[in-house]
Amino acid sequence: MEEKKKRIFSGIQPSGELTLGSYMGAIKNWVALQDEYDCLYCIVDMHAITVRQEPALLRKRSVNQLAQYIACGLDPKKNIMFIQSHVPQHAELGWVLGCYTQFGELSRMTQFKAKAKQHADNITSGLFTYPVLMAADILLYQADLVPVGEDQKQHVELTRDIAQRFNGVYSDTFTLPEPFIPQMGARVMSLGDPGNKMSKSDPDGCVFLMDKPEDIMRKFKRAVTDCETAVKFDKVNKAGISNLLTIYCTATGKTIEEAEAEFEGRGYGIFKPAVGEAVVELLRPIREESERMIADKAYLESVYKEGAQRAQYLANKTLSKVYRKIGFVAR
Ligand code: TRP
Repeated sequence: MEEKKKRIFSGIQPSGELTLGSYMGAIKNWVALQDEYDCLYCIVDMHAITVRQEPALLRKRSVNQLAQYIACGLDPKKNIMFIQSHVPQHAELGWVLGCYTQFGELSRMTQFKAKAKQHADNITSGLFTYPVLMAADILLYQADLVPVGEDQKQHVELTRDIAQRFNGVYSDTFTLPEPFIPQMGARVMSLGDPGNKMSKSDPDGCVFLMDKPEDIMRKFKRAVTDCETAVKFDKVNKAGISNLLTIYCTATGKTIEEAEAEFEGRGYGIFKPAVGEAVVELLRPIREESERMIADKAYLESVYKEGAQRAQYLANKTLSKVYRKIGFVAR
């Protein structure tokens, strides 16, 4: 008998346009995992509203993000791709799990502390309980692995703690998930400030998947480097150049050594536009394919509807088990 594939769940918030960082750090890996694992890839719009969103933009970005997932190579036949708010079980399980999560645990989440500082005028209970909703996302589908960046590890650890606690009280209900930080993942830093992660809230240091070639070239030509001339990988002393090397190698499939040899003695004036061109060529088909799909609303609608249906089928199995165990009367 064929061995059962491990299940993966991951998601990105439609709180901004997808970036080169989200592609190289997350989506590219998701594509690599789609044959070997049983994957659910979500557009987590319910997470996005933990900070204020413009309604028309949120709607547009959610659908466009699906188009971009597909254009990046995620196959809706192989993966369950859906919009979080289309599967009400996330909110339902989220409520239950919130009753098994301590106030103190949530108070220790470093992302909450950071975001509360950033949005000091709007610290909602949704922002505070966000990790509980994330736990529901993961546990609903009995995910084994959760590909996330370093910044989300603490939330996956909390998810395990909640699952373990619930299992302890009611017998085995949830699979304990593990954070999965794939080897291939590239952590892309800001082009303007290579000490920080590339972020959609910093448009100049950030390349968007839908950026036009001339914008991409401009951003790379302006990328912050150092006052030397050698194209050498050295994260500590040459953070900017190291970031550009990582981007160049991820875009072209070359190794760092190959790239260093290629640009030996050629200076940043040659290197920076070369990185820009590699990224332009990488993103061109993704942008064109996204644009084509964004124009085909009926197709995208069919994908997210089918995704939501398949997700609901799985989510219901877990949720009804949970409701039964905690003592809710069957409907
Ligand atoms: N919190 C994640 C982020 O901001 C997004 C997310 C929501 C997620 N639910 C998830 C990631 C479940 C992995 C699994 O990046």
